[in-house]
Amino acid sequence: MLKNLRLRQKFTILLLAILLMGLSLSGFALSALLRQNAKNDIAATGVMLMETMTSVRNYTTNQINPELKEKLEVKFLPQTVPGYSAREVFEVLRQKKGYRDFFYKEATLNPTNLRDKADNFEAEVVEKFRKNSNLKELSDFRKLSGGDIFYIARPLAVSEPSCLECHSTPEAAPKSMIDRYGSTNGFGWQLNEIVGAQIISVPANTVINRANKSSFVIIGLVSAVFAAVILLVNIFLNSQVIRPLKHITRVAEEVSTGHMDAEFDKFGNDEIGNLAKAFKRMQLSLEMAMNRLKKSHGNTST
Ligand code: HEC
Repeated sequence: MLKNLRLRQKFTILLLAILLMGLSLSGFALSALLRQNAKNDIAATGVMLMETMTSVRNYTTNQINPELKEKLEVKFLPQTVPGYSAREVFEVLRQKKGYRDFFYKEATLNPTNLRDKADNFEAEVVEKFRKNSNLKELSDFRKLSGGDIFYIARPLAVSEPSCLECHSTPEAAPKSMIDRYGSTNGFGWQLNEIVGAQIISVPANTVINRANKSSFVIIGLVSAVFAAVILLVNIFLNSQVIRPLKHITRVAEEVSTGHMDAEFDKFGNDEIGNLAKAFKRMQLSLEMAMNRLKKSHGNTST
């Protein structure tokens, strides 16, 4: 099949084959790498958001709560609750483009607000943190019926004695809080106990789309480079090989039909140039041989 193709076509096919092979071989490794990259990227953003939420919690614990403590006896102010302020700030952040996909949850084994109750999967994550105090962070994909997610989790501990004012016993808690949340949930916590996990999650699509976007850019770039290479190789082949060869073929044909005045052009000192020179020498020898032949023919005839 290759026999009937032109040089340029052969080279183009060769280069396309290399491109396809390269892309498919590296594609696999590349997509895994880019996915890991996108994961790290989003995990880094997640960790930063989590740190921010922890800071908001600390701010509420150290500056807001002490100021408003007295008022709590009369009327419950959710603004004094660290978990509340973290949620609220996160909701404000979620209004911003680029953070809409992020979700924040303080998944807790025995929560004050049942909305925060850890589901089975989250409870397992919390148990892992409780069992291994060196474990500071977990992140992975998670299958959910509404679509897979990617999550980053950190342990949430009862870090301050002041937490116990509202989370130790119903008797110690402000009455206004009991009125609102009841006295069954979110009590019995101990100082320094890990009671839950801070979890930031994004739809897995976000990670995958980000990785795909990078793959398209890279594949596009590589293909563009290859297209340029194919074009340049074609131009180069044409000017350095094909045109000179066509010329040599044409002149050789003319010489072979007796047009001795046909001239081989000069083409530098590469293989093609040498071929042209060799043909030229052959043409000269041929001319000389023919002249000699003519002469001896003339001699015998006279
Ligand atoms: C003023 C009382 C109060 C204080 C002090 C307080 N909390 Fe809470 N905490 C609450 C209430 C009320 C909620 C439920 C808020 C809601 O409805 O979102 C809550 C929610 C939480 C949650 C989310 C899970 C759940 O129970 O719903 C965690 C985790 C939590 N608190 C931990 C802490 C820690 C740790 C501290 C100390 C740094 C602390 N809290 C201090 C009252 C308090």
